[in-house]
Amino acid sequence: MSFEIVPPRGQDLIDEINRLREERNAVILAHYYQTPDIQDIADFIGDSLQLSQLAAETDADVIAFCGVKFMADTAKILSPEKTVVLPDMDAGCSLEDSCPPEKFKAFREAHPDHIALTYINCSTEVKALSDVIVTSSSAETILQQIPRDQKSIFGPDRHLGGYLSRKFDREMLLWPGVCIVHEAFSETELLKLKEEYPDAPIAAHPECPPTIVDHADYVGSTSGILTFAEEFEGDTQIVATEPHIMHQMEKALPNKTFIGAPGADGNCSCNICPYMALNTMEKLYVALRDLEPRIEIEEDLRLKAKRSLDAMLEMAKGSVGKGDLGRVLSQSDA
Ligand code: 13P
Ligand code: SF4
Repeated sequence: MSFEIVPPRGQDLIDEINRLREERNAVILAHYYQTPDIQDIADFIGDSLQLSQLAAETDADVIAFCGVKFMADTAKILSPEKTVVLPDMDAGCSLEDSCPPEKFKAFREAHPDHIALTYINCSTEVKALSDVIVTSSSAETILQQIPRDQKSIFGPDRHLGGYLSRKFDREMLLWPGVCIVHEAFSETELLKLKEEYPDAPIAAHPECPPTIVDHADYVGSTSGILTFAEEFEGDTQIVATEPHIMHQMEKALPNKTFIGAPGADGNCSCNICPYMALNTMEKLYVALRDLEPRIEIEEDLRLKAKRSLDAMLEMAKGSVGKGDLGRVLSQSDA
């Protein structure tokens, strides 16, 4: 018979997480879509690009990644010598699920003259099959460094790909994946809300469909939406992305009001990411205590996936000239 040690509660739980973080020399990274208690205990909160950069640079021995699996996988790809734990290994992503590696491989093989720009919300295997990874905050900078006549595949998010394609007037072959969370916003309900708050600007994540993005005053990543919240003139903003991001806005900007864009039921609770929500403080405690569940990636696969991530980290700086592009992308053997 095995006995599970029951996690402590309340302040004791917080104290124990803090004790274990120190004992393990661990860093707690959290995405903006995590619940407020996890955001508040994290060492760093960020968007997908910032969290990748932090994972690549940290000198901690353990990364406790409060986000979804592709994010923790990315941390392990970039920092293989570190122990990377994810509080709940089932914290997946509908975009990753939409893009099985064998189908993506066949798609690439059917279009040999196209390079693959791939959203970071995908499996390690798909990263290994890609030329350059992008995040919502780096996609525009990266795309602008690729010559206009270069044919490209964009996957797995057809809404982000479609948004980039429209904005830069560039044709790309789009993989048909969607984020179930951003897909759930309702245009009809958004327009009703806008009638109620005509002066409130709408900030939307590019994972939203065009029916939402087309009404937005600002379109960008989670960190971009946070910057917009600080900078817009006025006192009320409508936020079309996962509603836990509003925790940071409410903390930093107590004099402004943030309203989550509604789903078809007229409120925003259907837009909580069910995968991110699997991580809890109790599971974070257990992950730090047991150093499980742990991310493990086979070395050959990791090295293949790292090439497209390294290309992202370099191109996100915006300084890869035409002459250097071949070198940066040829790091990939897809
Ligand atoms: P960013 O935080 O990079 O904007 O991405 C959002 C997301 O897809 C998290 O799942
Ligand atoms: Fe995936 Fe969407 Fe959840 Fe982000 S919000 S992890 S894209 S399902």
